[in-house]
Amino acid sequence: MLLFIDTANIEEIKAAYSLGVISGVTTNPSLIAKEGRDFTQVVKEIASIVDGPISAEVISLEAGDMIKEAEQLSAIHPNIVIKIPMTAEGLKATRACAEKGIKTNVTLVFSANQALLAARAGATYVSPFVGRLDDIGHDGIGLIYDIVEIFDNYGLETQIISASIRHPLHVLQSAKAGAHIATVPYKVLMQMTKHPLTDKGIDAFLADWGKLTGKV
Ligand code: E4P
Repeated sequence: MLLFIDTANIEEIKAAYSLGVISGVTTNPSLIAKEGRDFTQVVKEIASIVDGPISAEVISLEAGDMIKEAEQLSAIHPNIVIKIPMTAEGLKATRACAEKGIKTNVTLVFSANQALLAARAGATYVSPFVGRLDDIGHDGIGLIYDIVEIFDNYGLETQIISASIRHPLHVLQSAKAGAHIATVPYKVLMQMTKHPLTDKGIDAFLADWGKLTGKV
């Protein structure tokens, strides 16, 4: 399973990318708004840091307008992937983008049927939102299992991005379920690096080394 970083914050993206484990970036209008900066500028900066797919979302709700936005956004950089909301209009736009060779990430996916429709519309990626389903008492990871099974049954090539990740366990469960990618917030990525026994082990090694060298 590949790891993407789910943020529009340049410092977080730089720090995450420097670990050597990040293959792409996902943003959404809320994440961009949080930065309070020009959308195009932010996307350009991200593209200058990360050599991999960068999802940038359309704001329009009508297919024709989404397609226009998709063309504008994809002109910013060859790595831009157009995030399109999972609606009937979004499906039309996804199909049009596929025919134009524009990569898409169908977002706000909350059911396996939505994922199937997105795949059939030619989406490059689908983003099921695990955490937001858990928030309302549904089974977010169960949805990942369902989509993996359905895509496998029919050889669908659309890649599954496990999104709306809240904690490291979501990442582990997404990998076990067979998601192709998990897009993780910076905080979760850093939590994944930690284990108390790693810290304890380092302390013990350094203390023992200090006893040997007399530098305790
Ligand atoms: C996915 O691409 C979205 O940007 C993101 O994962 C949404 O997560 P949230 O539910 O924490 O807003």
